[in-house]
Amino acid sequence: MTPVDLDRPVADRVHLASLPGAVEPLLQQCHDLGAPLLTGIRRTADAVVADLAGPLRPIAALRLYAAFGIVLGDDPVATLQRSRETGVLSVLDAQRFRVGELPGRRALTEQLASGLGWTNDPGDYDVNVEQAGRELVAQVGPLFRSRRFPAMARLPASANPVLAALVVKLAKIRADDVVLDPFCGAATMLVEAAAVGAGAVLVGSDVDPGALRAAGANAPLIAGGVFARADAAHLPYADGVIDRVVTNMPFGKLVGSHTTNLALYPAFAAELGRVLRADGRAVLMTEEKTLLNRSVADARGLKVVREVKLATPGGELHPSAFVVERTRAARRRHR
Ligand SMILES: C[S@@+](CC[C@H](N)C(=O)[O-])C[C@H]1O[C@@H](n2cnc3c(N)ncnc32)[C@H](O)[C@@H]1O
Repeated sequence: MTPVDLDRPVADRVHLASLPGAVEPLLQQCHDLGAPLLTGIRRTADAVVADLAGPLRPIAALRLYAAFGIVLGDDPVATLQRSRETGVLSVLDAQRFRVGELPGRRALTEQLASGLGWTNDPGDYDVNVEQAGRELVAQVGPLFRSRRFPAMARLPASANPVLAALVVKLAKIRADDVVLDPFCGAATMLVEAAAVGAGAVLVGSDVDPGALRAAGANAPLIAGGVFARADAAHLPYADGVIDRVVTNMPFGKLVGSHTTNLALYPAFAAELGRVLRADGRAVLMTEEKTLLNRSVADARGLKVVREVKLATPGGELHPSAFVVERTRAARRRHR
């Protein structure tokens, strides 16, 4: 497949598939791009739909969606033919497709093959036709998130990259901030922070040497990143030196257990209260919501200022991102 020409103007109704919790900020980013590039912008439960008229580059740069699709409407073959002339398919050479598990799959596969001269190749496709809520969409392989951004080493419990992008956005990282992920795993959060937080100093720690090896494999994506083996219950950092924490804590499912978390969460919250700067901010993603709330409330001088409810693809997990800051009194004490 030839690379996508991101700078030639195209026109299509497009579907940006995101995840609950990330849709609202993605919607805002689309409104910020606004007319004439994007019009008719609306959201669904887990996507943003809009009429695109212009180059793809600003859309390809957005980080809060996973799959980019063309909305097919009632006549998929006609829509895709038109897209080949003036739409997204005019700036890439799509030849192979697949159709997902949806009603009328076989008939649609035959229509696309005969109407467009494409090859049905579920193992190696450029276009993936899927039902996304009420919309039938043709997802464009070269614009999947995994193809828009560099490949990364991953662990079974690695954060979904769209949710990592949301956590990092919520952290509001400033240039020169010291940013810590104390449960860094393969360092998905820090890779995202490196991509969007120019100038920040990025620090990752984890107890597991295997996780640190995966983080090491991703180190080229984290310029100047520093990694250490450390228990988040006893962080090897001085008091009040961390500006931002972005992390995906053990949920007690794939990593650790609820019993382990009963001791780990309060101990980590106490350490967070120690290492965070006066105006520090932590964004903690976890499914252990009751325990997280209780641990932060019990840690001296911290409070949850916001909870954003999330879901992983397929709705398997329902974590939240908790934004934690110092209480006003603690801020005065640490100044
Ligand atoms: C949900 S995973 C983080 C995944 C990571 N965000 C990524 O994208 O790869 C949780 C991580 O916490 C680490 N962990 C578990 N207990 C820990 C502890 N007491 N101190 C530090 N790290 C711990 C695990 O080794 C695991 O890598």
